[in-house]
Amino acid sequence: MNTGTRRRFLATSLAALLAGTAGAVLYPLLRYLAPRRTDTAQRAVRIPLAEIPDGTAKFFDFEGKPAVLVSSKGKLVCLSAVCTHLGCIVQWQKDQGEFRCPCHGGRFTIDGTVVSGPPPRPLAKLPFTVVNGTVTVG
Ligand code: FES
Repeated sequence: MNTGTRRRFLATSLAALLAGTAGAVLYPLLRYLAPRRTDTAQRAVRIPLAEIPDGTAKFFDFEGKPAVLVSSKGKLVCLSAVCTHLGCIVQWQKDQGEFRCPCHGGRFTIDGTVVSGPPPRPLAKLPFTVVNGTVTVG
């Protein structure tokens, strides 16, 4: 290999190494700094109304957190399933028609109002619509 070819090879190798290093450093930095998507069309959850017969609850993830749709006596409610005390996931008690928190015994009505126990606030209500037999949350 002559001197000119060796220098060109070394320069090309060094440029490739620098480009790879710059990419490895900049890509995670740009991902960290890029704004998160808040597109409502992306976060909406659709659930067929037929999956929530009267007296039942349907748990699902909404924006990365547990949520619940409950149907009782013709009333449909959508709530966060995260207890407002210390964040445990509430459970639907069909026979009592209320939510109970398994961690410290917090109790909530079907619309999330605190009945008893340590929870300081009601369960958060989530917006939803019902169109053509489909519930859209978000
Ligand atoms: S976390 Fe629900 S009552 Fe404590």
